Amino acid sequence: MNTTPQAELTRRLRAALAACGLPPERGDVVAAADTRFGDYQANAAMVLAKEAKANPRQLAAQISEAFDGGGVCARPEIAGPGFLNFRLNPEWTARQLLALVGDARCGVPAAESPQRIIIDFSSPNIAKPMHVGHIRSTILGDTLARIARFLGHEVVTDNHLGDWGTQFGKVLYGWKHLLDRDALQRDPVGEMTRLYRDVNALEQSDPDVHRAARDELVKLQQGDPENRAIWNQLVELSWAEFQDIYDRLGVRFDERLGESFYDPALGPLVDKLLDAGIAQKSEGAVCVFFPEIPALADKPCLIRKSDGGFLYATTDLATIEYRVERWAPHAVWYVTGAPQQLHFQQVFAAAARMGIPTRLEHIAFGSILGEDHKLMKTRSGDNVPLRDLLDEAVARARAMIEDKNPELPDAEKDRISRIVGLGAVKYAELSQHRMTDYVFSWSKMLSLQGNTAPYLQNAYVRVRSIFRKLGTVPVEAKEVRFTEATELALAQKLLQFGEVVPLVLHEFRPNLLANHLFEAANAFHAFYEACPVLKAEGITRHSRLVLCDATAHVLKKGLDLLGVEVPERM
Ligand code: ARG
Repeated sequence: MNTTPQAELTRRLRAALAACGLPPERGDVVAAADTRFGDYQANAAMVLAKEAKANPRQLAAQISEAFDGGGVCARPEIAGPGFLNFRLNPEWTARQLLALVGDARCGVPAAESPQRIIIDFSSPNIAKPMHVGHIRSTILGDTLARIARFLGHEVVTDNHLGDWGTQFGKVLYGWKHLLDRDALQRDPVGEMTRLYRDVNALEQSDPDVHRAARDELVKLQQGDPENRAIWNQLVELSWAEFQDIYDRLGVRFDERLGESFYDPALGPLVDKLLDAGIAQKSEGAVCVFFPEIPALADKPCLIRKSDGGFLYATTDLATIEYRVERWAPHAVWYVTGAPQQLHFQQVFAAAARMGIPTRLEHIAFGSILGEDHKLMKTRSGDNVPLRDLLDEAVARARAMIEDKNPELPDAEKDRISRIVGLGAVKYAELSQHRMTDYVFSWSKMLSLQGNTAPYLQNAYVRVRSIFRKLGTVPVEAKEVRFTEATELALAQKLLQFGEVVPLVLHEFRPNLLANHLFEAANAFHAFYEACPVLKAEGITRHSRLVLCDATAHVLKKGLDLLGVEVPERM
């Protein structure tokens, strides 16, 4: 099954345009927003008529005349100023749906030109807890990786850990003078954060501490064995905590090349850019200037400070060089918050100067807000640690399951609460446009109504319960027939899955897929209300079972691409 209704209609419309002597590439067909007049539509006649100063309805009639539906659809109808409306043939739809049930790809065509893509996401900072800001990057990045892989791209996920930088001077000083070993055992990252904070406070009043912390940093940078060893512990203890979160979320990385990995490359890179005339000295610092780019004309990319220190941008440029050399990727995607937009503009502009051929994309996102519509914080004003948030999600889901299905065995309740709780958090993220600042609301994301993970999981569970009632009889692939409007509407929604999944990568918008699954679940409920399944007979019963099976198949696959699991009951 390597076609979708849209692809099929587009191909046929293009053939019709060519037959009329019109440019075929102008024949795009889109799913109709309002299906009263057709399932798909095209405005090619209007656009082409305008260019040729011809009558659009006449041109539409000519195209419609030349159109060969080949059993996929009848001749398109002409509406309004010259729209072409296509109505899918119910027999074709039924055959395609049958194919979908047996298709591991659920009707999603593989990408025509597979690419090698590096996805840089999550990338939290060592010795600091991962907070809700990192959740967006982690969840979005993981979903984009899943979808890109599913479409046949070669994906390398890389966690660009913030494991190098000035904060380590303070933490090292704290480790040597203020460390509480028991606290470190109990809550390693918590203790590191405390050290950082306490040293920071001490520095304000005591210039000696400030100097001492700076010396610790210099020693670390010069490779002092003791400081290196402590730093290693900081990294490994922090990573263990991050890894725990990734395991819970089912997120994995192919590489974990933190900022420290590139440190040796920074000096030579700056020298090279100076030699090549790409970078210039300016008041003791080194910058790449962009007089030709209006937005960056007065915002050069600083790559070496006057004190000789390197910057975040220097590391990112060295990282790009390394990635290009090692993987020769077509693209690198950076999933990082909107506040880093300027940083990436500068880095990408500098990379272009260096002649880097790779497509570099900053996939930005907005903030998560608390119910008070301010940046989400704990009561004491700190960032909410991700770990606590996930614990709470599971606990709340557990309460919901207790309420809904108290007879389930405990172990199953645990499993379902994990799937529902974590799914709710992920889905709340993915169902938003990524640039939206969204309010983190437990009651909304865990609701069984509306565009939520529990709603979709529940729709899946409903379908599965039909098959449980039925016993073990599998749905056999034989002829199916749809006569009811709700049957056809559901079948078409399910076939559109193959159209929507590739779209997600066009603008990096997983919310398109989330919304599609929501619409499919709604179409299922409308069908299920209007059409008895187990009480029906003969080919009607069989066709409806196939629809149910296809619904479960698409919901499960779609949620899986969003990193959300489904329970068999809940
Ligand atoms: N560590 C950074 C942060 O927490 C994100 C790094 C993003 N990746 C990159 N190549 N700059 O904000």
